[in-house]
Amino acid sequence: MELFADLNARVVLDTTELPWSPSPLPGVERRLLDRSGGEVARATSIVRYAPGSSFAAHSHAGGEEILVLDGTFSDETGDHPAGTYLRNPPGSSHAPFSAEGCTILVKLRQMHQADQACVRIQTRQSAWLPGLVPGLAVMPLHQFGSEQVALVRWAPGTMFQPHRHLGGEEILVLEGVFQDEAGTYPAGSWLRNPPGSVHSPWSDQGCTIWVKTGHLPITEPPQPGPVSAG
Ligand SMILES: [Fe+2]
Ligand SMILES: [Fe+2]
Repeated sequence: MELFADLNARVVLDTTELPWSPSPLPGVERRLLDRSGGEVARATSIVRYAPGSSFAAHSHAGGEEILVLDGTFSDETGDHPAGTYLRNPPGSSHAPFSAEGCTILVKLRQMHQADQACVRIQTRQSAWLPGLVPGLAVMPLHQFGSEQVALVRWAPGTMFQPHRHLGGEEILVLEGVFQDEAGTYPAGSWLRNPPGSVHSPWSDQGCTIWVKTGHLPITEPPQPGPVSAG
């Protein structure tokens, strides 16, 4: 399956409107955001575990990145409540399950082979740092090469400067409403801004977003300009 597989194309989805598709395991369903490949795919999905469901033991050839959106996601490494950010590096394996049920953002097969960090961060218990402009707070989650992952919290009325995404940008709006000159993105919106894209984001009512930048292949020479945080 090829779904929004052209990484040079901008994508905006209201994930709350997407249908739930069955997975190979009963009780586990998913909303497909982007995908390239079959059951073994480079894929970004929102996955829902019904209470008491489990997924087959599997290994992560290209790594697996997860943000727990609600409920509690579990595996051999522990119980990971809502807000937990996980990275299972290339070559790792596990057998996940959820006793109470959960919803998670999952990115598969998108890690550099040398990025071997095993990460578990409980973002609801972690500190926010001041951002680049007043009203912005940042919680760094991971950095490898040009790739950076963070939560960014926007106080109501915060405006960020125009910036270019050298290696692209991907955003999931977790709370509130995120905005830029191309649109208004309520909670549940997923954006993928391609390498070289430019925007000037703001938030009138405030929001919290998960942001990954610098991870999409650059197909044109980088151009000068301020880089990024939303
Ligand atoms: Fe996994
Ligand atoms: Fe941005």
